[in-house]
Amino acid sequence: MIKNKIAIIGAGSVGATITYNLSNRGLANEMVLVDIDQARAEAEVLDITQGMSLGSTARLYAGSYQDCGDAEIAIITAGAKQRPDESRVQLMDRNVDLMRSMTGSLMESGFEGVLLVVTNPVDVLTYVAYRESGLPREQVIGSGTVIDSARLRTFLGRHCNINPQNIHGYVIGEHGDTSFPAWSNVTFGGMQVGDFCPDCPRGCSQEDLRSEATRYVRQAAQQIIKAKGSTYYAVAQAVAIITQAVLRDERRILPVTAVVSGFETFREAAFSYPHFIGNKGIVLDAGKRGRLQYDLARDERELLRESIRYIIEN
Ligand code: 2OP
Repeated sequence: MIKNKIAIIGAGSVGATITYNLSNRGLANEMVLVDIDQARAEAEVLDITQGMSLGSTARLYAGSYQDCGDAEIAIITAGAKQRPDESRVQLMDRNVDLMRSMTGSLMESGFEGVLLVVTNPVDVLTYVAYRESGLPREQVIGSGTVIDSARLRTFLGRHCNINPQNIHGYVIGEHGDTSFPAWSNVTFGGMQVGDFCPDCPRGCSQEDLRSEATRYVRQAAQQIIKAKGSTYYAVAQAVAIITQAVLRDERRILPVTAVVSGFETFREAAFSYPHFIGNKGIVLDAGKRGRLQYDLARDERELLRESIRYIIEN
């Protein structure tokens, strides 16, 4: 029976903001927030539910892993967060064992829905969760570069004076320092950026625009972390979009982290790339193996290989 139930594991700033965002969207009938600090989870639930009579309502409560078994999607957000000037990959040692433990506890509840990993380094930890959960590959995804792609569109929207909702394209590879925009697929209202620029009064060079945009995307999180300790609003939006695509079976194309076998020369790797997302995670009957088969430019294919290698080797 479809319960329209979401489980969020981790009541820190990211998990709590995701819970708040999801409750405002009225996506679920039931939501459970799990945290080792039960009092913290209960306080976040109270703070959110006390506003529900003024907005969307859902049965929201602080619970345990046992309450997650019948959720359609479980979102894992708990973990150590980056310190200023610390890369996401450097979080690995502190979060791998925790991810194994959280995934194990979740699976003991009988969970068989979509597992969405948010904790960083999200590409590696999505792979860890996949191996630990025993769920089918397409049911274990990560928030990946959905947020990075949103940041790219924000940057280009401001720089080129275009509504970011008319800017299409994806940042792919690692959710981290080796991510990059697949420029061969970035368009303004369907027009290649290179065809737009000659008409634009700013007169930027393609090269400058591309390097500035890539730098902005790669440094966006650090700039915020240095000033306020962590990021949570944009990543909550990204997670909400993925969650909505799952709960409503939207078959939406999103650059999530997924475990892909046989991509290029890699036996098996978890990295961010545009996939079709629906009610069981990656929709396998859409396109080949559920993902878009881009004809990437040669330099982009090399950048993607480097990014995947970086994820695997670190
Ligand atoms: C972000 O990109 C820190 O991965 C987090 O906002």
